[in-house]
Amino acid sequence: MDVSFTVKPSGAALGAEVLDLDLAAPLGEDDSAALRKALLQHILLVFPGQNLTPAQAAQFCRNFGPITRHILDQFYHPEEADLCIISNVVESGKGRTTARMAGSYWHSDLSYLAEPVDASMLYAIEVPQSGGDTLFANMYDVFETLPEAVQTRLRGLKAVHNLMSGLGSDAKVTLTDAQRLKVPVAIHPVVRRHPETGRDALYVNPGFTRRIEGMDAADGEVLLQELYDHAAQERFTYRHQWRPGDLTLFDGRASMHTATGGYTSTERRTLWRAFIGGRYAA
Ligand code: SIN
Repeated sequence: MDVSFTVKPSGAALGAEVLDLDLAAPLGEDDSAALRKALLQHILLVFPGQNLTPAQAAQFCRNFGPITRHILDQFYHPEEADLCIISNVVESGKGRTTARMAGSYWHSDLSYLAEPVDASMLYAIEVPQSGGDTLFANMYDVFETLPEAVQTRLRGLKAVHNLMSGLGSDAKVTLTDAQRLKVPVAIHPVVRRHPETGRDALYVNPGFTRRIEGMDAADGEVLLQELYDHAAQERFTYRHQWRPGDLTLFDGRASMHTATGGYTSTERRTLWRAFIGGRYAA
């Protein structure tokens, strides 16, 4: 295989930088296949120093599967509806005005859909001087380090997910009736086997998991909180400090992530994002 880039693992529980690759140009077949393999291995890939138009960013994502549009169509990029904008710049018309910033709770993107997406892309356009990092967790490691009895118990459980539930409720915008109809509750196994790697990963998250199906609500909450506390340990995470032009691609079947804040409201932070795979389309 003739591959034109270098992969440099982060040394943390997940993540690798992909160097010497300009994503503005179409990917060759070998590069595309090697990147898919690297994504499965490292869960999160960081491509520094990119300078992409909206069309180029979306085209890059399509190497990994069809793009799934988010139901919050008010945040679509004006030039490319396959991308959404995450921004604190209110006057852009895309900035969030919720009490809490978008995505500032651990979540796996779109886990509230019956067919959640496979991967996500985040691309940094404007970043604050300091703060505004994104934390990612390796959900294979999170599951595999649980005691065996707990693993066995979890394998028999399912969880209910919903967009408007969870710890991030105050970060989410109010849905229109039409949007609400597109996101009824979804039920997923608490442990999901990754269809490509065959590895088991924990699949509950504070942002969208509402409860454990068939379990007493209080007992379910205790269990979920224990799992979230376990997952948030530093040994399972990678912290990404954004530089303008960083593009990240991450496998949502094996990870969750959270925005961390820590910057002032006068500093601008704008990312573009896309969701890849799954079968839902807005
Ligand atoms: C998100 O996943 O919703 C946002 C992540 C970030 O802004 O860091």
